[in-house]
Formats: sequence, structure tokens, C-alpha cells
Amino acid sequence: MSERVSVLFVCLGNICRSPTAEGVFRKLVDQAGLQDQVHIDSCGTSNWHIGKGPDSRSQEAAGKRGVDISALQARQFSEKDLDIFDYVIVMDRQNLADVKDIWHQNGGTEPSLFLEYGRSGVAEVPDPYFGGEDGFEQVLDLIEEAGEGLIRTIQGRMA
Ligand code: 4NP
Repeated sequence: MSERVSVLFVCLGNICRSPTAEGVFRKLVDQAGLQDQVHIDSCGTSNWHIGKGPDSRSQEAAGKRGVDISALQARQFSEKDLDIFDYVIVMDRQNLADVKDIWHQNGGTEPSLFLEYGRSGVAEVPDPYFGGEDGFEQVLDLIEEAGEGLIRTIQGRMA
């Protein structure tokens, strides 16, 4: 079966949160047997790290949970993404404001905050870049929890 749903995760740099979300969500999609039906990608609102792999701290934290994100390469968000992806999912309110600015001009898929799909009660996936190791673990906890909710939402849509 061809891919029926596409999901784009967006953060600022595309080297910490959104590649982590891409890897974790791909694992959840695989576990649900939906790998042939869900296309997953990630990007950043900034151009700061284009072409680079994920931050080594993100790679390490994800690896400890069985998620290999070492092959991912950062790219920048483009307005075309709003025409291509069914879900455009951002990590924090600044990402939301930045992508919504473009959405207001371009139309297409309205971006949403990732954690709205979860039940943690937390609104944003905090930027771990300038903090310690704990931040990377917290990012994974929040992403795993919201990822389960997003899978449920997609399964409901495909049913
Ligand atoms: P991300 O984290 O948006 O989760 O990829 C960041 C990565 C790099 C920077 C900021 C946040 N930076 O300032 O370079």
C-alpha cells in the first residue's frame, strides 16, 4: 500500500528535538505496523545547521532507548512543506509562531503543537541545546508520550 499520511516534525535547529521526534515516531509507526503508510520527516525553522547530523547528546539519549538517529541530516523548513505534509508538528510556541507566519501567507496544513497529542499537561518540548543531559531525557519522555497520542490520532483517521 502506498503512503497515505505524512508527518513533519519542526523545531529550531533540526539537530535536537525534531530529529529525536522523527526517530522515536518512526519506531512507534514500525511497532504499529504502519511503516508503509506513514511518511515521516523533520526540519528546522533556522538555517543554522543545514546538512549536519543530530547533536551527539541527542544521538546518545535516543540510542539508549533503541532509536538510531545518526543518519539524519538537518534541513530548513520551507513553505512548500505546508502543501506536502498532512501533519506539521512543532515543538514550542516560537516554532508555532514562526511557521504560522508562513502559513498565514501560504495556506496549506495548519501547524500544531506536538504535545497537544499527549496527556502530559506540558505545552512545549523545551529546547535542550544549552542545558544538561537531563534536558535530553525530558525531551525523549515528552516525545514518546505525545508520539503515542499522535499514532492513535492517525490510526483513527485511517480507520
Ligand atoms: P533544536 O535545538 O531546535 O531542538 O534542534 C537547538 C539546536 C541548536 C540551537 C538551538 C536549539 N542553536 O542555537 O544553535
